[in-house]
Amino acid sequence: MNESRALITGINGQDGSYLAEFLLKKGYEVWGIVKRNSVAETQTSRLDSIFDKINLRYADLTDLSSLINVIQECHPDEIYNLAAQSHVRISFDQPIYTANVTALGTLNVLEAVRLTNKKIRIYQASSSEMFGNNIDEDGFQRETTPMDPVSPYGCSKVFSYNICNNYKNSYGMYVTNGILFNHESPRRGTNFVTNKVVKTAVEIKRGLRDKLVLGNLSSTRDWGHAKDYVEAMWMIMQQHNPDNYVCATGQSHSVLDLVTYVFDKLDLDIEKHLETSTKYYRPEELDDLKGDSTKLRLATGWEPKYTFESMLDEMIEYWIKFYTK
Ligand code: NAP
Ligand code: GDD
Repeated sequence: MNESRALITGINGQDGSYLAEFLLKKGYEVWGIVKRNSVAETQTSRLDSIFDKINLRYADLTDLSSLINVIQECHPDEIYNLAAQSHVRISFDQPIYTANVTALGTLNVLEAVRLTNKKIRIYQASSSEMFGNNIDEDGFQRETTPMDPVSPYGCSKVFSYNICNNYKNSYGMYVTNGILFNHESPRRGTNFVTNKVVKTAVEIKRGLRDKLVLGNLSSTRDWGHAKDYVEAMWMIMQQHNPDNYVCATGQSHSVLDLVTYVFDKLDLDIEKHLETSTKYYRPEELDDLKGDSTKLRLATGWEPKYTFESMLDEMIEYWIKFYTK
């Protein structure tokens, strides 16, 4: 029986909820922090199926004392730092808030561990957004690709990545970075492009609305499934030495490919229902992402189980069921 204890920041987010389920199955005692929200009933809806099996505490990444309090109560072996203001477009509207949570919040987690128990292992949710528009000659981004972020979110994640490496080297702490490419699921926020497209397409199919309005259709992303990616997070944390790993499928598709697949599946006419608006453009766009996760695959044996198509099929099925209730 595994008697390890894990603390997840961002436990009620897409990844946090899948990770909590995954760690419970592995026998972990799972703790999580939730920041205060005025609508408490819906805030933890992604955790409904495991609510009685996990320990939740109020804390906030921007409040060091709250993090120290939780660590002193739960004595975790592993901390997965998934909390963030994670929306790239919104980071342009709220750059200072994004930096406070997504950059300085990580430093608060590191300080909380340094001041309480330096043996606690830390996983940092780093992102392919950190690479910006740098691409290696073979068309991929990997651990050695230079980082040149193009959003306040990406800049905040680069700070977190660097400060994690700095704490590892300065204090001998076990701090890892998973550099994850886009990953989606039915639990994805509906203002990210995949779930926005799938949810809206199902609504059009059911006659609930007529148009899907998007921004840039030509950018490409390497989209995987969040369930596969939380397994990678855990595998990264089980390595003997802390290190940084890219996690990606190695396949990329454009936003238009995504819309085409979903509309074809639902037998919808793109010409009739798709519109674009500059409202959804970013001041600076990250054009293309495609990750090489050879290092992760060789070190851990990680392989994704979902394809782009099977991931979207699951999301389509979810929204069809949702509107059939
Ligand atoms: P998400 O669904 O947006 O979840 C973010 C979580 O952080 C939520 O639980 C949110 O709580 C919490 N949070 C926000 N601000 C907080 C604060 N000040 N204190 C405490 N908690 C706070 O994001 P995700 O898709 O699960 O991603 C998880 C992590 O991986 C994020 O750090 C993200 O930046 C990173 N990442 C994601 C992807 C991806 O494609 N999904 C790829 C690379 C990296 P509320 O919901 O209550 O606000
Ligand atoms: N959200 C959104 N909404 N994106 C749109 C839209 C729209 O209406 N129309 C086009 N897009 C384009 C964006 O311009 C971007 O090029 C692409 O769709 C993907 O956008 P998002 O789904 O918002 O994801 P992201 O790539 O910006 O960021 C996600 O992935 C990062 C990893 O690369 C987030 O999960 C980040 O937290 C994560 O780090």
